[in-house]
Amino acid sequence: MKERVSQKFAELYGDGAILFTSPGRINLIGEHTDYNGGFVFPGAVDKGIVAAIRLNGTDSVRAFALDLNESAEFGLNEEDKPAQSWACYIFGVCREIQKRGGKIGGFDTVFAGDVPLGAGMSSSAALESTFAFALNDLYNLGIEKFELARIGQSTEHNYCGVKCGIMDQFASVHGKAGHLMRLDCRSMEFNYFPFDPTRYGYRLVLVNSCVKHELVGSPYNDRRASCERVAAVLGQEFLRGATMEQLEAIKDKISEEDYLRARYVIGEEQRVLDVCEALEKGDYETVGERMYQTHWGMSRDYEVSCEELDFLATVAKECGVTGSRIMGGGFGGCTINLVKEELYDSFIATVTSAFAEKYGHEPKIYPVVISDGSRRL
Ligand code: GLA
Repeated sequence: MKERVSQKFAELYGDGAILFTSPGRINLIGEHTDYNGGFVFPGAVDKGIVAAIRLNGTDSVRAFALDLNESAEFGLNEEDKPAQSWACYIFGVCREIQKRGGKIGGFDTVFAGDVPLGAGMSSSAALESTFAFALNDLYNLGIEKFELARIGQSTEHNYCGVKCGIMDQFASVHGKAGHLMRLDCRSMEFNYFPFDPTRYGYRLVLVNSCVKHELVGSPYNDRRASCERVAAVLGQEFLRGATMEQLEAIKDKISEEDYLRARYVIGEEQRVLDVCEALEKGDYETVGERMYQTHWGMSRDYEVSCEELDFLATVAKECGVTGSRIMGGGFGGCTINLVKEELYDSFIATVTSAFAEKYGHEPKIYPVVISDGSRRL
């Protein structure tokens, strides 16, 4: 990817480009908890975006998306928002930096990626983080890492129509090889958590249903609104910290749908804590149990699954997989699976053929490698 990007840059704009990269992410557990002020447990992966960038001394950006073979050119004022949705991510990052007082100018860039699009692995956060990190570096802006993540998140909110939480951009910027990160999305405190399931005889693998998940303009924002409504009835800023008893007590003041959504979130808060405790003891069986609970909570109460993902989790269970669940926002994309070493090959073979037989195409398999976050190459 590095070579392809550099070569195309040289062809379009000449030499002198610097390469930057940011990864996609997995999340072990803690889904739809970030915007509820709760905990998440992500890690960066070995798939991401690579961009070649060179400042061009003008007020405009010339960008080329290598995978799409498309170019865009835009200025840096609010009214210059480009038409292509991929370019809006770059434009949004520039605008959000400017809003924070960062003085930036134009640049030329070519980028490509190997995070599968719409797989729930945060390809868009990888794109935002790459440009936020690069511009901060190239213009010596001195913006702290966490703020770079917020720049990506605000880009989603203000330029891409997704009221996402902070997890994806946080994980992309802060990732560390061999470590998951437990982030408290209320205090924004986090710590690195050494994570090596192979030491205990397990592997993590993603199974991509290839059902394209699309959060833009989607029910994602509706889920968030439900949570905010319930928090407001409870008189709290966030759902975080609410108990099932409190939820039961206001049941007749909220809709059935909002009730089920809040029930999922409150359960998920507890599951993240349970998983952290279990991991400290190397108790992967409990981790796996909680993953299945998350899956069915996301499917039945939060309603962000789909038939294909439910099928993948069901087959995993039948194969004796320790844990399996939808990963990311939902509505398609991947399941994340915690599999015993000795079951790995037979699980992959079974899930591949069963899925192909039912849906007419094979799922894609990605072994998880926990990797570093945003950096200059
Ligand atoms: C998407 C959002 C995140 C988070 C997850 C669900 O990936 O971007 O902020 O809410 O969905 O956990």
